[in-house]
Amino acid sequence: DEQAIILPSLLQCDFGNLQREIHSLEEAGVRGFHLDVMDGHFVPNLTYGMPIVEGVRKLTSLPIDVHLMISEPAKYVRQFADAGADSLTVHAEIEQDTSEVLKMIRQLGVGVGLAINPATSFESVESLLPLCDLLLPMSVNAGFGGQQFNPVALEKLRQARHNFPDLLLEVDGGVNIGTIADCYSAGATLFVVGSAIFGQDDYRQALEGLTAAIGL
Ligand code: DX5
Ligand code: ZN
Repeated sequence: DEQAIILPSLLQCDFGNLQREIHSLEEAGVRGFHLDVMDGHFVPNLTYGMPIVEGVRKLTSLPIDVHLMISEPAKYVRQFADAGADSLTVHAEIEQDTSEVLKMIRQLGVGVGLAINPATSFESVESLLPLCDLLLPMSVNAGFGGQQFNPVALEKLRQARHNFPDLLLEVDGGVNIGTIADCYSAGATLFVVGSAIFGQDDYRQALEGLTAAIGL
């Protein structure tokens, strides 16, 4: 269904076998990948940067959705676009001028995304949304996989769906067969999933379970 796309978050994949992981996920039917970039400063966790995006780019022609959990995205957005990202999502909670970063991303010709942590209200970012293609109300505090779904994201999805009918809505954090249906009903169409895929041996079965849970 065009209305629901599950994006595996590669945070928990086996990076020693990246090619095999990407291949298995493609075989299982995924239609895009979500890459979590963390700088050990905006969030306490540290992951990877441009070389991994570039590596994934060489292994797939599917869209690569890059979630930048970094304090100074303005410094790096061009490099991430050059590395092959199809969309770049930055956090509203950064110290930099978020609207300037969103405009920079637009200039780069890739998808423009804005993420908000659970404590950030929808209202506080509403004026930035005309600059965006996508809003990501986080359903966990950005930083780690395997956390429990926070339903505060659902109300933000509903507000965004109501006020900005054309905005793409993504949800990320604790999305599993028990929480995905509420996200779908609230208006999300892009579902980032880490543990609920990588915690399973059979990726196809995991994906089928998730799509079945939203009735597709
Ligand atoms: C968390 C990341 C997520 C994470 C999701 O900060 O943005 O993409 O990998 O993992 P799960 O599905 O395990 O919550
Ligand atoms: Zn993410």
